[in-house]
Amino acid sequence: MSIRLLSESEIDKMRVAGKLAASVLDMIGSHVKAGVSTEDLDRICHEYIVDDLSCIPAPLNYRNGNSPPFPKSICTSVNHVVCHGIPSERKVLKRGDILNIDITVIKDGFHGDTSKMFTVGEPSVLAKRLIAITQECLYLGIRQVRPGARLGDIGHAIQTHAERARFSVVREFCGHGINDKFHDEPMVLHYGTPGQGVELQEGMAFTIEPMINAGRRHIKLLTDEWTVVTRDHRLSAQWEHTILVMDNGYEILTLREEETFH
Ligand code: MF3
Ligand code: CO
Ligand code: CO
Repeated sequence: MSIRLLSESEIDKMRVAGKLAASVLDMIGSHVKAGVSTEDLDRICHEYIVDDLSCIPAPLNYRNGNSPPFPKSICTSVNHVVCHGIPSERKVLKRGDILNIDITVIKDGFHGDTSKMFTVGEPSVLAKRLIAITQECLYLGIRQVRPGARLGDIGHAIQTHAERARFSVVREFCGHGINDKFHDEPMVLHYGTPGQGVELQEGMAFTIEPMINAGRRHIKLLTDEWTVVTRDHRLSAQWEHTILVMDNGYEILTLREEETFH
């Protein structure tokens, strides 16, 4: 097993791709409202990514193993959808919905991958708490990143925070190395044991993207072979950043201006 260490010129390209991916999440926010379909959101993002950013939307026609090609340019995962929700004109947002929008762009061959949660109208107290705790899980995971730390430190920080809130961590999907490949080594689990797993080194780039469920952790894959839902149909939330390991810690390549991060 070998994990890529990026060169300075590759890092520069990852910085550009990361910023552009983040800008799509900034752009789409004002379009997320009741009555809008997830297909509308896909079309708006696709046009922005292709026409304004001159990027490629990485999900479009993406294949993973035996799955059929992903048919859209972004993932939209509403309420009990855990991840990889397929935008559809039949999925019209209504007040109280929560959703994750996951953006991956390719610029100059390199990937930026990031997602955030959006709310429509006023979500339930539980939904708001799930969204907040999941974002805290992401940040706590990120804070573990520095040369010499282990992937297990990241997973443990996330799992501990989620379970303390009596939520559960999805096990079947994880963060991933990212560079000129969308999904590369290592697998970044969102649960684990401190001191275990791959040791981080300066120049590694990977995503952290915890999926946290309000109920039990178990999931089900729908017959479209992409959409992942909670088995108990309770809510799920996810936030994602692309991270670079730096000599003194980390750099969040997909940081948005709205984020005040310490
Ligand atoms: N962006 C997702 C991730 O964070 C992957 C989506 S693959 C797709 O890894 F084909 F569903 F788009
Ligand atoms: Co990812
Ligand atoms: Co993603």
